[in-house]
Amino acid sequence: MHQSFVTTTRGLRRETPPMRLFEKAKRFGIWNPSEIDFSQDVEDWKRLTPDEKDVILRLTTLFQAGEEAVTLDLLPLIQVIAQEGRVEEELYLTTFLWEEAKHTDFFCRFLEEVTGEVRDLSHYHTDNYRYLFYKTLPEALQRLTHDSSPEAQVRASATYNMVVEGMLAETGYHAYFTALERNNLLPGQRKGVAYLKQDESRHIAYGVFLLSRLIADNDTLWVVFEETMNTLVMPALGIINEAFSHYDVIPFGLVEDDFVNYAMGQFQKRLARIEKARGASIEDIYQITKNAIDEDDA
Ligand SMILES: [Fe+2]
Ligand SMILES: [Fe+2]
Repeated sequence: MHQSFVTTTRGLRRETPPMRLFEKAKRFGIWNPSEIDFSQDVEDWKRLTPDEKDVILRLTTLFQAGEEAVTLDLLPLIQVIAQEGRVEEELYLTTFLWEEAKHTDFFCRFLEEVTGEVRDLSHYHTDNYRYLFYKTLPEALQRLTHDSSPEAQVRASATYNMVVEGMLAETGYHAYFTALERNNLLPGQRKGVAYLKQDESRHIAYGVFLLSRLIADNDTLWVVFEETMNTLVMPALGIINEAFSHYDVIPFGLVEDDFVNYAMGQFQKRLARIEKARGASIEDIYQITKNAIDEDDA
C-alpha cells in the first residue's frame, strides 16, 4: 500500500542527479533509429574487404547481443528502485530502458539493411563474452528479484554500469570510431553510435550516482564493489583479446594494445570515481554528481 505520494507532498526534487539526467534524456535521448540514413553505408559495405567486413560484423554482433542483454536484464533494478519509493530515480530509469531498446533496434537495422547478415552470428560470442553477457550480467540483475539488499544492488550496478557500459561499451565505441572515422566509412553507423554514446554516458552517470549513494551510506559496500570489479576485469579484457586473435593482420590498422590500454584506463577511472564516495555525505554525493552531469552538456 502507498502511504503518500511524493508529487502531492514534498514535490519532485528537480535539482537531484536523477532529475537532471531525466531532463537531459528528454532533450537528447529522443533520436529515432529508424531515421538514420544508411544509404552511404550500404555502398561502403560493398567495397570492404572480407576481413574488414568480418571485423565490423564481429564488433556489431558483440554490441547487438550486449544491447539485447541489457534491455532484458535491467528491469529488476528498476523494480527495486520503485519499491524503495525513489520516484525521481524511477522517472529517469524509464528513459534508460527505452534507450536500451532503441539501441537494440538500431544495431539490428544496421545488420539487416547494411550487412544483410540476418543469420546466426553467435559464433562471434567467445568464451569470455559468454561468461559476462550470457551468465554474469543476467545473474547479477536477476538476483535482485529475490534479494534487494544494498550488496546485491552494488554487484548489479558494478557489473552493468561500470563494467559492461563503462568499460566494454566505451571501448567498443572507441574501436568503431578509430576504424571508421580515419577511413571515412559508414557515416550512418557512426552517427547512430554517436547518439548511443550520449545515451550511455547518462546511463553510466546514473550508475556512478547509485553506487556512490550506496557506498556513502555504508562504507563496507566499498569492498563488495572493489571485489566485483576485480573479478570482472580479466574476463572483460579477455573479450578484447579474443576479438583480436582472429586476424593475422588486424583490419583498419587497429592495434590490440590501444584497446586493452583504453579499457584499463576506463576501469581505473570508474574505480577512482566511486572511491570518492567513501566517507562522503549524501549531500556531497548529490552535489558532486549533479555538477558532473550539468558540466557534461550531452
Ligand atoms: Fe545501450
Ligand atoms: Fe546503457
